[in-house]
Amino acid sequence: MEEKKVLAYPIVAVNDADTKHFFDNRYGTGQSTIDGILRSTNILIAGSRFVVLGYGWCGRGVASRARGMGAEVLVVEVDPLRALEAAMDGFRVVPVAEAAREGDVFVTLTGNLKVIRAEHFEAMKDGAIVANAGHFNVELDLEGLAARAASKRTVRASVEEYVLPGGKRIYVLGEGRLVNLAAAEGHPAGVMDMSFADQALSSAWIAREGRRLEKKVYRVPHEIDREVAALKLATMGIRIDRLTDEQARYLASWEMGT
Ligand SMILES: NC(=O)c1ccc[n+]([C@@H]2O[C@H](COP(=O)([O-])OP(=O)(O)OC[C@H]3O[C@@H](n4cnc5c(N)ncnc54)[C@H](O)[C@@H]3O)[C@@H](O)[C@H]2O)c1
Repeated sequence: MEEKKVLAYPIVAVNDADTKHFFDNRYGTGQSTIDGILRSTNILIAGSRFVVLGYGWCGRGVASRARGMGAEVLVVEVDPLRALEAAMDGFRVVPVAEAAREGDVFVTLTGNLKVIRAEHFEAMKDGAIVANAGHFNVELDLEGLAARAASKRTVRASVEEYVLPGGKRIYVLGEGRLVNLAAAEGHPAGVMDMSFADQALSSAWIAREGRRLEKKVYRVPHEIDREVAALKLATMGIRIDRLTDEQARYLASWEMGT
C-alpha cells in the first residue's frame, strides 16, 4: 500500500518488533498451536510424524515444541534460507508432495494460500490430521477437499472428518481457521503482554511524532523494543549485566584489537 501510495496515514509495523515476533509468533504460536491440536484430538504427539509447513517465526516455534514432545518433525519451505536453517536445526526438509504421503499431523504457518491442496489431501494416510495456525482459513484448500470427499461430518468439537472415495479419512481441525484460537485459548498472557506493550508504546510514539511522519510503514523504534524487553525481564525477576565503560569504548572503537 505504501508503494502504491494508498496508505491513508503512517503505520507502525508492530509485528516486525523483535519483542513481538521473537516471542509471540515463536513461543506463543508454538505452544498454543500444540494446545489446540491436543484439546481437539487428544492424540499422542510422541512418535508421530509431524509436518510443519512454513519455517518462519511461527513455524520454528511449532517445530521445536513438537520435537520436544517426541515427534519426528518434517519441514516444508519455499525459501532456501529458511529451508537450510530448518535442515541445520535438525529437521527433515521435504517438498509438500512428499510430506503429504508421510505425515500423521500437518500444520500450515505460512501466511500464504492453498499450501495444502486437493492432490496433497488425496495422497495422505488414512487418519491424517490437518490444521492451520497461519493466515485466516485460506492456507488449506478445503473447497478442493470437499469437492473430492464422499462425505463430511463433525466427529468431535473442532474436528471434521472428510471421507474420500475409497474410504480414506482426513481430519480437519477448527474448519481450517487458526487452530490455537478455534480449539484453544490463543496465546498465554505471559507473551501477549509484550505484543500489547509494543502496540501501546507505538501508539504513544505515533501520537507524539505523527505530525512529522509520512504515509509510510515505520519500524517500531528500537528504544521501544529495548524498553519492552527490559520490563519483561524485570517482571520475570531476571537481572542482566551492563557493559563496563571500557567494554563500551572497545566495542565502539576500531583502533583496538583489529
Ligand atoms: N496462530 C497465531 O496466533 C499466529 C500468531 C502470529 C502470526 N500468525 C500468522 O502466521 C503466519 C506466519 O507468521 P510468521 O511470523 O512465521 O511469518 P514468516 O514470514 O516469518 O514465515 C512464513 C514462512 O512461510 C514460508 N512459506 C510461504 N509460502 C509457503 C509455501 N507455499 N509452502 C511452504 N512455506 C511457505 C515462507 O517462506 C516463510 O519462511 C502469518 O500469516 C501470521 O499472520 C499466526
